[in-house]
Amino acid sequence: MSDDGKERTVELRYDGGAQTLPLLTGTEGDQAFEVKTLLGTAGMVTLDPGFGNTASCKSEITYIDGAAGILRYRGYPIQDLAQGSSFLEVCYLLIKGRLPEAAELKEFADELRSNAELPEGMADMLDAFPRNAHPMTLLASAVNTLSAFYADSVNPQDPAQVDLATTRLLAKLPTIAARIYRNSIGEAPIAPDPSLDYVENFLNMTFGSAKPEGEVGELFAKAMDLLLILHADHEQNCSTATVRVVGSSQADLYGSVSAGINALFGPLHGGANQAVLEMLEQIREMGGDLDAFLAQVKDRESKTRLMGFGHRVYKNFDPRSREIKGLARQILDRQERPDELFELALKLEDKALADSYFTERKLYPNVDFFTGVIYRAMGFPTSMFTVLFAIGRLPGWIAHWREQLADPATRISRPRQLYIGPGERSYPGRA
Ligand code: MLT
Repeated sequence: MSDDGKERTVELRYDGGAQTLPLLTGTEGDQAFEVKTLLGTAGMVTLDPGFGNTASCKSEITYIDGAAGILRYRGYPIQDLAQGSSFLEVCYLLIKGRLPEAAELKEFADELRSNAELPEGMADMLDAFPRNAHPMTLLASAVNTLSAFYADSVNPQDPAQVDLATTRLLAKLPTIAARIYRNSIGEAPIAPDPSLDYVENFLNMTFGSAKPEGEVGELFAKAMDLLLILHADHEQNCSTATVRVVGSSQADLYGSVSAGINALFGPLHGGANQAVLEMLEQIREMGGDLDAFLAQVKDRESKTRLMGFGHRVYKNFDPRSREIKGLARQILDRQERPDELFELALKLEDKALADSYFTERKLYPNVDFFTGVIYRAMGFPTSMFTVLFAIGRLPGWIAHWREQLADPATRISRPRQLYIGPGERSYPGRA
């Protein structure tokens, strides 16, 4: 609708006809023309591999302006949330749509605390998995299995059940992740401690007595909290879109989130921070020669890629990467010995940003560029990096699943295709 109250439209002309399509405008002036009637009226579909130009829904949760490098959750700039809020406040904000009052936040945190234990059978199941299996596979399996242990919270049509599934997922995901890690290193699991807050409890269940105390311990907990906030939502990214697609069939919340975890596991999505660390290690093995490495990246014949740079949506700095860089500095400054990979990352960033080859292609550091070095400094193995991303992204997945469920415009996701296979042919006779 325009300011004068008139409905705005787009004219689509094609051989043999024309269509008038509604033009919709979002809160921030973004425009989308609606094509949902096109097949019925014109007999045509739109083709958009990877959905790079397709809005699959209307959403009130997260706003990104990729050209300006803006990210907001429920209207609040990510920088303000990073500085002023805790991860649990951000969970509340994303899921319920507003920041909690102090009493509401306490109630929310207490509810999660009292639901942090795993059902006994699930602990046995996690312990039975092979030690060397990837933690993301185990995480997705465990989350899927929550619907078997908690059949009283799998009905999407019952708001009380949806609330229960929401609480259980948020409460138990860190416990599941920590147990997977402890099993992978052959150490006994550590039960949740209700006297600790959400992030401290996760770090305690993960590292136990190996967790640093005092100032460094506090810094690690603050860093973890901040990283979870920065990963909490990113509108229709691959895993969130997956959660929505699965949820659109009225699958329960556990199964939908489990699908999202599998989507996140892919190296092009959540696995990218692991790839950055591997790239830095490769550069170190090349004797730290950044010019030689960047020359390889620019060489069309070589398969070398500058990992952690560029983003499908951001054509400017990823605002999360700025927050993370400052954090990385704080953590690594406190290390006893300088971290070679972090130093390499800083120099690589400087060189790439000073090189028009990368800036002309709008390749700027993204959220993954510095996260790996921070996680490593905190003591996490690379295989756990994507699990940490999943713990951060969980409130976003839940918020989108719930928003979609409440939206009367929701239909089961069922894209069309442009068939390009053989035309009808005769079936070969068999002797
Ligand atoms: C994310 O946070 O999910 C990633 O930056 C990927 C994306 O948004 O497409």
